[in-house]
Amino acid sequence: MIEPDRDPRLVVVVLFGGRSSEHSISCATAGGVLAAIDREKYRVIPVGITTDGAFTLQSDDAAAFALDSAHLPTVHDNGTRILWPDSASSRTLTVVEADGTRHPLAEIDIVFPILHGRFGEDGTLQGMLELLGLPYVGAGVLGSAVGMDKHFTKTVLQHSAIDVAPWICVTTTAWRTDRDAVVARVEEQFDWPVFVKPARAGSSVGVSKAADAASLRTAIDAGLAEDTKVLIETALVGREIECAVLAGRDGGPPRVSVAGEIVTPSGTFYDFDAKYLDPDAASLVCPAELTDAQVAKMQELASLAFLAIDGTGLARVDFFLTETGFVVNELNTMPGFTPISMFPKCWLASGLSYPQLIDELITLGLETAR
Ligand SMILES: Nc1ncnc2c1ncn2[C@@H]1O[C@H](COP(=O)(O)OP(=O)(O)O)[C@@H](O)[C@H]1O
Ligand SMILES: [Mg+2]
Repeated sequence: MIEPDRDPRLVVVVLFGGRSSEHSISCATAGGVLAAIDREKYRVIPVGITTDGAFTLQSDDAAAFALDSAHLPTVHDNGTRILWPDSASSRTLTVVEADGTRHPLAEIDIVFPILHGRFGEDGTLQGMLELLGLPYVGAGVLGSAVGMDKHFTKTVLQHSAIDVAPWICVTTTAWRTDRDAVVARVEEQFDWPVFVKPARAGSSVGVSKAADAASLRTAIDAGLAEDTKVLIETALVGREIECAVLAGRDGGPPRVSVAGEIVTPSGTFYDFDAKYLDPDAASLVCPAELTDAQVAKMQELASLAFLAIDGTGLARVDFFLTETGFVVNELNTMPGFTPISMFPKCWLASGLSYPQLIDELITLGLETAR
C-alpha cells in the first residue's frame, strides 16, 4: 500500500491584526511576511485577529494587507473562527467555517505573532501560548510585558546603569484627583518643552510635545485616552538612532546590527504620519553615519538593554544620541517588520536578507521552546 504524501513543511501560524491601536501596522507587517516567507520550508496559516478580538482564518493574500496613505489595512471579520488546541498536549488547530462546520486545519509547529501593542506585544498573548504549550516567535511573557510598558522599561534600564531621559509617571486617577498638582510638579521638575506619552502604546499614538502648562494639559488628556498612565519626560535634543537585536543561538550573546537613523525635519518629531503615511516627513538612513567607537558603544548598550528586559527572539532598541552620549528611549519587542521597516533594514545592512531574517526568527522560536 502506498502511504499518502505527508506535507513535510513546518506549520507556521502567522497571527496579525489585533485589538491595539496598531492593528493596521500589524496587518501591513503580516503582508510583508506572507510575501517573503520561504514556502518550500513553511506552510503558513494566516490568522487575523479583528479589532474586537475574534480569531479568524484569513486568505493567504499578502497584497490584501498593503499599507498606503489612502488605505489602512484591517482584518475583516469573515465569520470564520479559529479554535486553539484543547489541551497542552495537542497541537491541532481547528477552524469553524462561517456556516458552522468545523474541521482540523493543521498540526501547529510554531506561532508567529506579528502583533504590535497591547494584547499582542505585551505578554498577554504570550501567556496564552505558554498555557497552550505552543512554541512561538519573539519575546516571552516578562520581556514582552516590560518592553511594552515604558515606565517599567526605564525603571529596569536605570537599574542596569543605562541612561534614560528623566521622567515621571502620572495615572488617570492622579490626573483626575488634582490636575494642578501634576502641572506644578512638572513645572518644578522639568524645563519646557516636555514629551508626554502613554506608558503602553506605540507608533507614536498619543505622543505629544508640550511647550507650556496649557498644552501639557491637552497632551496628558491625549495620552490618557490611550492608557491609564502617561510618562512625562525631558525633551531630549539629539539624533534618533536605532538598532536591531536578535537573540544569540544556543545560549550565545545577543547579536546586534549596524545602526540606523531616523531623520526628521528640525522642529518636528517622529509621529504617526511621519512613520507610516507621509513619505517626506522622515527618512530612514541605514547604516547611520557614526564612528566605529559610537557603533561599538551603541551595540554594547543594545545588548545590555535587551538582556535587562529579559529579551528573547528579537527587539529594536531606540536611542537618542545626545551631546552626552547614548540615551535609550525604548525597546520594541515586536518592531515594525515590513520589508522597508528599520528592523529588517538594519539586518539587511548587516548581511541578513528579509527572508533569512524570518527564517532566523522561526529557528530561534523553536530553539527557545526546546
Ligand atoms: N524625551 C523625548 N525627547 C525628544 N523626542 C522624543 C522624546 N520622547 C519621544 N520623542 C519623539 O516621539 C517619538 C515617539 O515616541 P516614543 O517614545 O518612541 O513612542 P512610540 O512607542 O509611540 O514610538 C520618538 O520617535 C521621538 O521622535
Ligand atoms: Mg518609538
